[in-house]
Amino acid sequence: MTKLTTRLKGAVAVGLICASPALATDVEVLHWWTSGGEAAALNVLKADLNGQGVGWQDMPIAGGGGSDAMTVLRARVTAGDPPTAVQMLGFAIQDWASEGALADLSALATEQGWDDVVPAALQGFSKNDGKWVAAPVNVHSTNWVWANTALMAELGITQPANWGEFVAAMQKVKDAGHVALAHGGQAWQDATVFDSMVMGVGGPEFYKTAFIDLDPDALGSANMVEAFKRMETLRGFVDDNFSGRDWNLASAMVANGEALFQIMGDWAKGEFVNAGQTAGVEFQCFRVPGTEGTVTFNSDQFAMFKVGDEGAMAAQMTMASAVMSPVFQVAFNTVKGSVPSRTDISDEAFDACGKLGMAQLSEASASGKLFGSMAHGHANNPSVQNAMYDVITGHFNGEYDAETAAAELVTAVELAQ
Ligand code: GAL
Repeated sequence: MTKLTTRLKGAVAVGLICASPALATDVEVLHWWTSGGEAAALNVLKADLNGQGVGWQDMPIAGGGGSDAMTVLRARVTAGDPPTAVQMLGFAIQDWASEGALADLSALATEQGWDDVVPAALQGFSKNDGKWVAAPVNVHSTNWVWANTALMAELGITQPANWGEFVAAMQKVKDAGHVALAHGGQAWQDATVFDSMVMGVGGPEFYKTAFIDLDPDALGSANMVEAFKRMETLRGFVDDNFSGRDWNLASAMVANGEALFQIMGDWAKGEFVNAGQTAGVEFQCFRVPGTEGTVTFNSDQFAMFKVGDEGAMAAQMTMASAVMSPVFQVAFNTVKGSVPSRTDISDEAFDACGKLGMAQLSEASASGKLFGSMAHGHANNPSVQNAMYDVITGHFNGEYDAETAAAELVTAVELAQ
């Protein structure tokens, strides 16, 4: 029996049992929120939609940064069976919109005034050809360090003020027999850390020239070599079992005091909170030393694929509307670890790290120091991003030295464009 026949039979069966077929008022959501904190945040959205009579069909594809989810999405679309709603980042949204695959949310956006409340940096990804094609649910940023408060106190370590102090602190932890840096050796995690090394070494102009403008001179420069050298320094502070470890397990190492630091986006906060910990109490957050004042951001957005069924379309609009609701943005982002994608929301309900994140986001935006995260699809298109991943992870695993890695980056980016 073909998949379509199975589906049709299923739909008929549902129609016979229920007065109105459930499928038309469901959203099928493809996403990569599979960790404890992520699932808790997703439940906030599910519950909101259920309360409005919209059912949820879950399509989880694990893997931070979403590369695996995007591969599955491509296969689904190629098979003529796209999910109705998809978690997406930055340039991927633009690619799908340019293919004409995404529903136009502009009528809803106009009615609800999204233009006035969504920051311009996000609108650049949510809109294509003047139309709203995605609803931004949050803003994350990648240049954070997460630290275990008790272990810091035990070892007499205070918040490092610069890269040198950060390295000295990690050495102290290592000497004391603890893991200095909790890390998972997966390409997207290596790249997440690399965002901060590039920003820390070269500053915002360099970050932009290398990662956004893709200038070959910047990509192959002495600054880039130095950024790779910093990765080698960090490599010396991870434990022997880092390879392949999921990011949330690395967060757990910090939460339970096995490791002192993790460099990770603020989705890590979702893990600490989900474990019952409080920002500023059991764990600390601060910007990666050397990147203070800057923010490398990514925004999770929900794009709706074009569907013919009116009920499904209505469910999509309900979901987009829910995502943009101010009340929902607070409920969701306090659990997720991110900050709201609207500028008109009070930080009152947010914890210490959330308040800091919101203030720093608006300061960085006002001072021109807010840039899209390369690791999370907001600096360049997916093929360039993946080419960068390969070089960064190859280098982190000893395939190249720093000089060769910078040269490889130039070549890989050129070929990917
Ligand atoms: C990011 C995403 C975050 C977080 C993280 C780890 O790409 O924007 O929401 O979930 O991956 O899975």
